[in-house]
Amino acid sequence: MDIPVLHRLALNESPYPPLPSVREAMHRAVAQAHRYPQFHPDDLTERIAAWCQVTPDRVAVGSGSVGVALQLLRAVVRPGDTVAYAWRTFDAYPLLATMVGAQPVPVPLTPEGHQDLGALLAALDHRTRVVVLCNPHNPTGSLVTADALSAFLRQVPRHVTVLLDEAYVEFARHTDLPGTPALLDAHPNLLVLRTFSKAYGLAALRVGYGLGAPGLVERIRRQQLPFGINAVATAAVKASLRAESELRLRVDTVVAERERLRRELVSLGWRVGPSHANSVWLATPDPVDEGAAALTEAGVTARHYPGEGLRLTVGDRNANDTVLTALAELPAHEGASRM
Ligand SMILES: Cc1ncc(COP(=O)(O)O)c(C=O)c1O
Repeated sequence: MDIPVLHRLALNESPYPPLPSVREAMHRAVAQAHRYPQFHPDDLTERIAAWCQVTPDRVAVGSGSVGVALQLLRAVVRPGDTVAYAWRTFDAYPLLATMVGAQPVPVPLTPEGHQDLGALLAALDHRTRVVVLCNPHNPTGSLVTADALSAFLRQVPRHVTVLLDEAYVEFARHTDLPGTPALLDAHPNLLVLRTFSKAYGLAALRVGYGLGAPGLVERIRRQQLPFGINAVATAAVKASLRAESELRLRVDTVVAERERLRRELVSLGWRVGPSHANSVWLATPDPVDEGAAALTEAGVTARHYPGEGLRLTVGDRNANDTVLTALAELPAHEGASRM
């Protein structure tokens, strides 16, 4: 018999539905659904640029941040080029690389679950067109700090575009975060990728954006589908920007729950490192496969990498309590080696 899903914690979504003001904006836009959206999303681009305190020529909007990433790869990759990224990471990167005819170059994480910046640099050669860094990292939640990132960027050859995926940056509370405007000024081969899917809770609406040098942004925009950003999504994003302080409180709650979840899991004996995203990462040799089965039994979907790890999205308090109860009751828990 199928077990009903009570808590969806597999895709790093927000536990919160859109705010009332965002829903109202969407309803108003739905009433105009017989009209096309803008040919290019110029208004939305300007709004995002003002909000990020950059000029509009530094902003490329796309269908989710994954859409912007694809536009970038289409703009710069030629068949036979390579795309390097730390592995494991967000599943889309190998798919996107293959879609544009590039050869994926996965570079193993360090044993602690960090992106290995030295190994990534060593993997770059004349065929490399893009290197992806995910910060905070999916799935481990680890962070590349400002100094390490600056040193990395200084060493990447100019013919390689750095795709700095900051899908989870709003959940990072580290004091040593990279400052985006200064990085953009210093590195014309950098594209910072952001999304409204995670902290802003609009995953279904598919809006992301990239920040980069005007020349790079221009090339990325040329790959954009005409009328490609829908009007309901545009209305929701604009309303979300107006409701930023309310949304920030929601993010603060997720961060507080993340810290509680980690603390409780550690007290249950799981080795859980600090996370700077809206997820926590459990890894072998802790009993992650048994953990995944226990969560399924409890009606929780999580992202399970068999024999390797378990990424748990931070849910609302009720969902997190369900996770803690399921993992505390694990038969394998008693016998597992603990720190
Ligand atoms: C690291 C990372 N980048 C990008 C995305 C995709 O986000 P979007 O919904 O903006 O395409 C995800 C989604 O899980 C992600 O984990």
